[in-house]
Parts: sequence; C-alpha cells; structure tokens
Amino acid sequence: MLVHTIKEVRDNVKQWKKEGLTVGVVPTMGALHAGHASLIKKAVEKCDKVVVSVFVNPIQFGPAEDYDKYPRTLDADVKLAEGIGADIIFAPSPDEMYGKGQRLSNDTLTYVAPPYFYVNKLCGKTRVGHFDGVCTVVMKLFNITQADYGFFGQKDAQQFIILNKMVHDLNVPIELIECPIVREPSGLALSSRNKYLDEKGKVDALALSQILNNIKACYNKGITDISALKETSLKFLNENHDLEYLEFVDKDNLEDKTKADDNTLVLIACRVHGVRLIDNILLK
Ligand code: PAF
Repeated sequence: MLVHTIKEVRDNVKQWKKEGLTVGVVPTMGALHAGHASLIKKAVEKCDKVVVSVFVNPIQFGPAEDYDKYPRTLDADVKLAEGIGADIIFAPSPDEMYGKGQRLSNDTLTYVAPPYFYVNKLCGKTRVGHFDGVCTVVMKLFNITQADYGFFGQKDAQQFIILNKMVHDLNVPIELIECPIVREPSGLALSSRNKYLDEKGKVDALALSQILNNIKACYNKGITDISALKETSLKFLNENHDLEYLEFVDKDNLEDKTKADDNTLVLIACRVHGVRLIDNILLK
C-alpha cells in the first residue's frame, strides 16, 4: 500500500504493535534496484511487517549536488517493493517530513549531528553536512515507523557505522542489519547513480571494483603496507577518473589503519565521467 502521510504510517504501525507483530524499515531514496530488493527481501524474511520509505531527502544534499536531478521512479518502486512483500511504501513530500520553509536548511530544524570524528573523513570530507541530513531523516523514520529492525546496504559502509553509533548513543530501540553489496556480473556495485552513466561510463566505472579486488588479492599474497597497496590501483585509473579518496580504516569504528589486516575496510570514492561513485571491500 502506498501512503504519503506520517499519520497513515503511524495508524498502521499502532495496529501492528497491538497485534504483537515485529516491524522492519528499509529507508531508501527510491530509484530502487536489485540492491534495494535484497534489503526488502531480507526485511520481509525477518519481520512480520515491512515499511519501505521512498524519500529523496533534501537535507542530505549539498547545494551543488544532484538533489534536483536525482532519479525519481515512484510507480516502479511501488511495484518492486510490493512484489517482494513490503506492506507499506511510505513516500512523503519534503513538506510532510520537514514542514514548509525548513527543508533546505538545518538552521531551522532540530537535527542529529553525528560525532566529528566519524563525519570528518571519507564521504563527509567533501559532503559537508551530509551525515547530519542522513541521521536526521533516518531518526525521523525510526520514530515514525517504531521499527524493531532497520535494513541498510554495505555499499554505504560509512553511513551504516554512523547510524549504528547514533542508535547506540541515543538508545534507539532498534537493531540495524547490514546487507551485502549487490553487484552487476561485471563487478560494478549497484547504485541509483549508475543511471547517470552511459556505456563508456559503465566500463570506466569498473575501475572501482577492480581496484578493490586487486588490493584484496595483493593483501592475500601478504602485502600489508598501505602505500604499496594504494600504488597498485594507479594502473586502473585514466583521464575519465577523478579519485576522491582510497582509504583503509577499521571496519567497526572508522579509525585509520597503519597496516592492512583482516579488520580493514578499504573504501573508495571516485568521479567517473563526472558521476560520483563509491564502493568498498573488507579484506578478510
Ligand atoms: O542510503 C540512502 O539511500 C540514504 O542515505 C537514506 C539512508 C535512505 C537516508 O536518506
């Protein structure tokens, strides 16, 4: 069932809770693909009732980012989510979520700001305020849906670690579940932003997974020196790539690694033909 208001979600959830049912939430920005489908599937398996939110959240986009042109495909999203067994697709307007006049600024909104250490690195370095916007909307979705479980993809690994920190620090009664990255047969991690790539772009985009797989292969051969591992990536990059970061951090707390080990998460962000893509791999 497609609903657009917070009240409709709350009314349904109230009834479900009365019946003692468990609720899962799958927060998305729509343009659903097989990666989202895997999250919804997992939620349907684990929970009695599932809410999928479809909301392109304005406050997590910077002024120069792609908020306006972000793909919006609500009809197809509803079909896909309902086909897998989602009970509610919640697609609010920005006004419904934030009220008139508040939505493009955190200045007029009570918001959730994750710790500086977690946001002052990786994607947060260039996407200033991004994780405030993510945490704020996700906290709102948790409050609206009263969900017992929240489902997120490992592709946004920094986001998942930050959301877990938020849930822990604010005692939110929910368990977050991280689901594996879904890839095209070529290795390209699925992303709604892949829609911006043409055929040549898609070929150049393979560099991200190739770099990560190559680093893991080198690590498996015994190389743990991070500079040496980074060096091996250069051969995959050409003039169509603008590498933003390639970092080695602890998989649980995002602390920088001095040497690669089994707990190392390698994350990459790279513009490919101007499209910003991210990917990551765990070395274990
Ligand atoms: O990962 C996303 O798609 C978004 O950041 C999220 C979690 C739906 C919040 O808008």
